[in-house]
Amino acid sequence: MEYRMPTEQELEQFLATASAAALEAGKLQKERLWGDFAIDFKGDIDLVTEVDRACEELIISRLAAAFPGHGFLAEEEGAKRSDSRYKWIIDPLDGTTNFAHGFPWFCVSIALEFQGELAVGVIYHCMMDELFTACKGGGAFLNGRPIRVSTRTPLRRALVATGFPYDVARDNENNFANFFELQLAARGVRRAGAAALDLAYVAAGRLDGYWEVKLKPWDVAAGTLLVLEAGGRVTNQEGAGYTVYDHRILASNGGIHDEMLEALKRAGSAR
Ligand code: IPD
Ligand code: CA
Ligand code: CA
Repeated sequence: MEYRMPTEQELEQFLATASAAALEAGKLQKERLWGDFAIDFKGDIDLVTEVDRACEELIISRLAAAFPGHGFLAEEEGAKRSDSRYKWIIDPLDGTTNFAHGFPWFCVSIALEFQGELAVGVIYHCMMDELFTACKGGGAFLNGRPIRVSTRTPLRRALVATGFPYDVARDNENNFANFFELQLAARGVRRAGAAALDLAYVAAGRLDGYWEVKLKPWDVAAGTLLVLEAGGRVTNQEGAGYTVYDHRILASNGGIHDEMLEALKRAGSAR
């Protein structure tokens, strides 16, 4: 069967609906932060709060009402209608550990994939009231203004970011060797605890690079499109093509990418 690509108007409608849902979920997060909410354990240190679940329900209900028939891949509820050509990839609250501890650094991340390609990305950081948006081929924006990756080089002058997986104490692929190499090679490494925001910050030129291991599609889908649409580069950690289903991401302003690859390679033997 022949399918047509979504029109520009349809993409705008997807983006507007996702943005409205992200703003609504962000408002809820801001209201509930520092209040009482139930916290469950998904693993040893991996938490989920009732706010994560409420935000996911809210986002899915808004998108499903506007686009019946679209599929979903959401962190808390998993996959729904996976035979659809449209797949919304949702992290209702990226930075749950921060949220649960009252550390105000977390966001909503919503992306739309059309036939396996990222088409729309939205990240909302409610505490700063910053909405990052991108449509494939249409550039990246922060609160409606165009953003670009930084031009900063070399790596020695760059500020980069990373994070660590929840099974850090149980698995050897814990990112420590990478952290060590990059900390030596860069001006600084930040570990703020919300992967989607790290990527949005690379897109906005506030960070120059970012890498991490063992992320899930909902952590990286919106942010990957933002970085690409802001003129950056996204690969796996061998420098080859990256999809959001891959294990190891490297995103940068392009100018420091090869140096970051070299640092990760140096760390490789100790990984
Ligand atoms: C986590 C955050 C964190 C990253 C973890 C993710 P969550 O997502 O993005 O920065 O280091 O690997 O799982 O659990 O807060 O949605
Ligand atoms: Ca996440
Ligand atoms: Ca999450």
